[in-house]
Amino acid sequence: MNLGIAGKTALVSAASRGIGKAIAIGMAKEGANLVICARNEAGLRQTAKEIESAYSVKILPIIADLTKGSEIKSLIQETIDHFGWIDILVTNAGGPPSGPSLSFSDQDWEYAMILNLLSTVRLCREVIPIMKKQGWGRIVNMVSIAAKQPLENMVLSNSIRAAVLGLAKTLSQEVAHENILINSICPGWILTDRLVSIVKKRAETHGKTYEKELAELTADIPIKRCGTPEEVANLAIFLASERASYITGTTIQVDGGLVHGLL
Ligand SMILES: NC(=O)c1ccc[n+]([C@@H]2O[C@H](COP(=O)([O-])OP(=O)(O)OC[C@H]3O[C@@H](n4cnc5c(N)ncnc54)[C@H](OP(=O)(O)O)[C@@H]3O)[C@@H](O)[C@H]2O)c1
Repeated sequence: MNLGIAGKTALVSAASRGIGKAIAIGMAKEGANLVICARNEAGLRQTAKEIESAYSVKILPIIADLTKGSEIKSLIQETIDHFGWIDILVTNAGGPPSGPSLSFSDQDWEYAMILNLLSTVRLCREVIPIMKKQGWGRIVNMVSIAAKQPLENMVLSNSIRAAVLGLAKTLSQEVAHENILINSICPGWILTDRLVSIVKKRAETHGKTYEKELAELTADIPIKRCGTPEEVANLAIFLASERASYITGTTIQVDGGLVHGLL
């Protein structure tokens, strides 16, 4: 299938590692030019180098902390200065910490809201006016199955991810007639650095080994394994493509069957 995104400009936030990096690589394979961001310069440059040497696309790595409004503004401005437009936006970020629900302070809650909700608001607020001028745009939000089915010890994610879905659905209805399509992906357990640290923390809490904890987590997944970042990326790239032209306002799990609900 020709996805029709060769030559388009895709901004993938938080893309030096994990799911964001896999999405950036998938976009590059399809011939999209890229802007990627993260906080750590060495990791970001390394990822940009890997992509640049493997695919013949243009890639602009920009150091940006998604919890800072001014850095999101500069990220968008630098993208426009360099490429002239933004066709595809993938709103990815780091995840909030896990822990007992009542252990988090106001500051923890504020940080999680800024990292996962406000960063999505800010990215969309900057990018949608650009997409309106172009008359074409695709936004894919990286959320979590926590928005659909609360996860143990993850109250920040369980609460704030649901708000991102509310934002995405609202925006999708407002801009669909301008050919700007907005969809959200809810990954289940995907084997990345983040999952390794979550499982290590759970293992410590439960007094188990990392291997035992991972095996128990996997046993609950109907497919009986964790997902790979590439398996999430495959859906993100399709939703960002020309071929997904009649899909907007949806929320799709990539979770090996982990969510038990019907919707
Ligand atoms: N892995 C899973 O099982 C899973 C499941 C459901 C949802 N998710 C969600 O999917 C997203 C990606 O997860 P992942 O597993 O790929 O995480 P990861 O492996 O920890 O990678 C996180 C990426 O985000 C960047 N990042 C983190 N905080 C940032 C910030 N404030 N500003 C800019 N970049 C930032 C990191 O680079 P720097 O550290 O250099 O900034 C890195 O490139 C997270 O929101 C996570 O909660 C993951």
